[in-house]
Amino acid sequence: MTAKWWESGCIYQIYPRSFQDSDADGIGDIAGIEQRLDHIAGLGVDAVWLSPITPSPMADFGYDLANYCDVDPLFGTLADFDHMLAAVHHRGLRLILDFVPNHSSDQHPWFVESRSSLTSEKRDWYIWRDPGPNGPPNNWISDFGGSAWEYDEASGQYYYHAFLKQQPDLNWRNPDLRRAMIDVMQFWLDRGVDGFRIDVLWHLIKATGLPDNPLNPDYLPSMGEKFSVMQLNSTDQPEVHEIIGEMRALADSYGEGDERVLIGEICLPLDRLMAYYGDAEPGVHLPFNFELIEAPWHARSLASFIDAYEAALPPGGWPNWVLGSHDARRVAGRLGADQARVAAMLLLTLRGTPTLYQGDEIGIGDIVIPPERIRDPRELREPGRGLGRDPARTPMAWDTSSHGGFSSSDPWLPLHADWQDRNVASQSRDPCSMLILYRQLLALRRKHPALAIGSYHAVAAEGDVLAFERRHGDERLLIVLNLGGESGQMPPETGGGRELLSTLEAPSTASEGYMLRPNEGLVLALSA
Ligand code: NOJ
Repeated sequence: MTAKWWESGCIYQIYPRSFQDSDADGIGDIAGIEQRLDHIAGLGVDAVWLSPITPSPMADFGYDLANYCDVDPLFGTLADFDHMLAAVHHRGLRLILDFVPNHSSDQHPWFVESRSSLTSEKRDWYIWRDPGPNGPPNNWISDFGGSAWEYDEASGQYYYHAFLKQQPDLNWRNPDLRRAMIDVMQFWLDRGVDGFRIDVLWHLIKATGLPDNPLNPDYLPSMGEKFSVMQLNSTDQPEVHEIIGEMRALADSYGEGDERVLIGEICLPLDRLMAYYGDAEPGVHLPFNFELIEAPWHARSLASFIDAYEAALPPGGWPNWVLGSHDARRVAGRLGADQARVAAMLLLTLRGTPTLYQGDEIGIGDIVIPPERIRDPRELREPGRGLGRDPARTPMAWDTSSHGGFSSSDPWLPLHADWQDRNVASQSRDPCSMLILYRQLLALRRKHPALAIGSYHAVAAEGDVLAFERRHGDERLLIVLNLGGESGQMPPETGGGRELLSTLEAPSTASEGYMLRPNEGLVLALSA
């Protein structure tokens, strides 16, 4: 059986506001993305996922949609989108859009109508409830802090918003809303998009009767207020799988050979995450796996997770790995520059579809955003707890021209401090740069089916060394990663292995008795 494009391929996430500005307003746009497609194709990835480009008041930078079937003027027009999509396909790449079904903007005409009266035709398209004895109908907390309920004076009821009050939750138990949203998916799929990354998919259905969430006994204020309760009744309800089945049926209706992919953003422990692959009926193709972002960076615990994840996959379930995103701290900030190289090798050698976040390929690290330039609503609502997402959303740096070639005017967020050195043009010329390492790793994946689609076999290793084999046909590749800054013990299987790639500059000679250098990652070809 041949692998599907979304199994063997690598996905590259673009945060459109910060990729390339083509009209000098300091904010990236669709024409800008099109200008930079050579970078993406040259990197060697297979698909591009765009964070939302639909019309939005930008309270949550596009994750508050005021129209599901158009393009925000800030980013361009539908015609610009079609043009860019054709250019993506022309390069043999695929395009995945962000679909945000859990909530709309409070400016969406559906919500305006819903809010207009208790008897409005669309009242039930959102989640309205009478006040409880203490005000809000229950104790649910917004992911951005504070009660998840907003009081509406005019009607005397509250509406539910899992995120900002400008992002009212849609009521997926309403059949008309459900049909309207499936139509939205069809609108884009008919235009030729290759699939969706589905925002907060596990949030769509809330428990009947909206009971209180249990309090979290381990809560610390530094975690952010959303963790003060456990979201057991506000998320991950069994009925969500029926909805996913409908979405999947639509995606599958495009037929074999024209595969459209569904990727679910789901933050749940392993056993509950796996349910999103589906059961008797298929679920999403890829429920995102965020472990490389969330787990402590220790070889032994990561090795156990990889084994547990592999073992938990349902029959036919294809794995996937995510290293960075517009919501997470930059990987080079989390792990440091040396380990970010090892992490790149891990991401691109594990079994499963990798998702790579823009800017990680040039190793952008932590960025301090001056207080007057903070834009992230999450940081503004719960300041000073390290929850802010602006540092992951700063513009790409392409070259040494003004504003890193991102824009001819001042960008909406500042660039990383070292952009004069850390940019695509200068790293293209440096054979030891992060960018070249990413290109080499992606080229290796293309060349070796063992990496792209081969089986995974854990290899015993000690201390901070993580080792595993990938096999396909006669091909056997050994990946050995030193997750620490001390020399590490090579597993005995290394004997006779031929080095294909190292994360370190000077070539190693992985001969007998060889110790893995600090922060070294190696891909070795073993004899069959
Ligand atoms: C997850 C998105 O990735 C994040 O950026 C957004 O704020 C929330 N969902 C709400 O849509």
